[in-house]
Amino acid sequence: MCGIFGIVTEQNQPLGKILVEAGQRLSYRGYDSIGCATIASDGRGTPAIDLRKDTGKIDEVNSRLNFEEMSGQRGIVQLRWATFGSPSQVNSQPHLDSDGDLVGAHNGNIVNNVSLREAFVKEGMTVRSSNDGESCVHAVERYYDQGCDMVESIRRAARTLQGDYAFVIGHQEGDTLHAIKQGSGLVVGIAEGATCVSSDLPSILPLTNKILRMYDGEIVTLWHDRVELRRVDDGTLIEREPEIFTEGMGAAEKGGYPHFMLKEIHEQPQVAAELIHWLDASPHVAPFLEALTSARRLYLVGCGTSYHACLVGAAYLSRLAGLGAVPVLAPQFTETMAHTLGPEDTIVFVSQSGETKDVLNALKAARRSEARILGVLNVIGATLMLASDHYLPLACGYEISVPATKTYLNQVVLFLYLADRLGRPGARIDWAQVPNLIAETLELTNEPARRVAEVLNPFDEMYYLGYGSTLGVALEGALKLKEITYAHCEGMLSSEFKHGPLSAVYDGYPVLFVTAPDDAAMMVNHVNEVACRGGRSIVVAGEDPLLRGNVMGEISESSMGESAHDYLLLPSAGHELTALLAVLPLQLISYHMSVARGIDPDFPRNLSKTLTVD
Ligand code: AGP
Repeated sequence: MCGIFGIVTEQNQPLGKILVEAGQRLSYRGYDSIGCATIASDGRGTPAIDLRKDTGKIDEVNSRLNFEEMSGQRGIVQLRWATFGSPSQVNSQPHLDSDGDLVGAHNGNIVNNVSLREAFVKEGMTVRSSNDGESCVHAVERYYDQGCDMVESIRRAARTLQGDYAFVIGHQEGDTLHAIKQGSGLVVGIAEGATCVSSDLPSILPLTNKILRMYDGEIVTLWHDRVELRRVDDGTLIEREPEIFTEGMGAAEKGGYPHFMLKEIHEQPQVAAELIHWLDASPHVAPFLEALTSARRLYLVGCGTSYHACLVGAAYLSRLAGLGAVPVLAPQFTETMAHTLGPEDTIVFVSQSGETKDVLNALKAARRSEARILGVLNVIGATLMLASDHYLPLACGYEISVPATKTYLNQVVLFLYLADRLGRPGARIDWAQVPNLIAETLELTNEPARRVAEVLNPFDEMYYLGYGSTLGVALEGALKLKEITYAHCEGMLSSEFKHGPLSAVYDGYPVLFVTAPDDAAMMVNHVNEVACRGGRSIVVAGEDPLLRGNVMGEISESSMGESAHDYLLLPSAGHELTALLAVLPLQLISYHMSVARGIDPDFPRNLSKTLTVD
């Protein structure tokens, strides 16, 4: 997730140290490149704009490019987290316009970047990189060169930029910076003798705790001693009082949440929206789909959470697209499948980090054949990306907390998107609603999840059961619980429970069921098997189909709602979307139980985020 920071002061002065420190404060978000630009007041200074940038970590790039010697009246620093296109010097931000009068940097994704760049080139502009941040600058340049002022140019530019983004930009003339918020984070700081704007609070707090919140569709103009907020759509002024932020730096990095895990759980509506926009516009989806549909045999390979997403993905591909994909744990794939591959086969390797050794071992084994290798990953530039014939990004930004949450969700979103693209046109998912459903589920289930966590907390072992599309969800919920509560929670297919584990059930023994609409009739039986033996059945499901009196009522006499001791209700959604949403309360249950046990969910014992060992 990119980070941006801009500052406006009264007169030319050393700004390099401030920019480096702001960059360091943003670095917890993860990045692969850094750049700084300073603008000398009213064009005084030679040249007026000083721009330095490259790939690498702040200290190392600073020691090469000497950011700290930079001075000016205004300054911008940007940390780039590549979502698409490898990190490189030219793709690093900030960017200049054609003549070098404007300088700007963005955070987010401009999904019509390719067509914009073509248009800019046709119009005679100098396009230097393939990075979408440069498109923000040229989009403003287009209208500024027609005679519009900066605010009007940005307003008009915003009408041409599609996606979720925020950017900051300045012209070498004048003494202001401008920034716009349209889907990505942006906050303003008002200090003594300076104002600043940033993608998040930690870079602002060392300078001031006087904070002005911004909302989507707003532009801010910064002078050294005041700021002015306007609406993008009609340009009208907005009156809003700044707030005094009293929390510490740790709280700011966590966006006000007590843990990164909770912050990342609540980022899920946003990252899903960003991924959906990306996939809608990406030319990389078509070759990916072709490799799936033309495969003789198709495998989905991952470890841990990523494997659970493969399980859900295989159900989606089967149900929606009629494609038989085999989900396999990476080491098991190496042993039992890798020797059987041929050039007609396709393997999709799924990994948040793109560096998991078990996955890379499997990839190496698969490479010995001529099978097609596809990658799904979050960390652009990772080994998996470089070793794949085609790859798709998860576009989640940096995931700091060891338990994967938002990257799992976007893995499932991505599989559902691919299956939906291949499925029957008449039965398409309403993608515009998906981020809203995710947000609604988080809101609806947080309190019930906390109460379920209280029910489970006295136990040190339990079961999570799923069926069909929700098997992967139950396994993922169980893994999350084990990972951050240290309780043993076994995830399994609900129909398998009667084949042995049912003997564990005694009065009050907790068994959690995850069910999606089309499996509800079958699951009622499994819930009853536990309930009638005195077990405590906790059901995560949409509205009880039996209570709604639809076809399920004719199949079974018993209602899910009647059998369940605790019924954790999800918003009404179809079968596939219910399987996508159901993981959210499971993440919340694990989180609340972890905190209740006094464990730090972000950094559970014995685990690390990226497992580069056998
Ligand atoms: C998830 O919460 C775990 N931290 C772990 O299971 C993880 O998913 C697994 O190690 C695979 O990691 P990857 O997605 O980076 O390959």
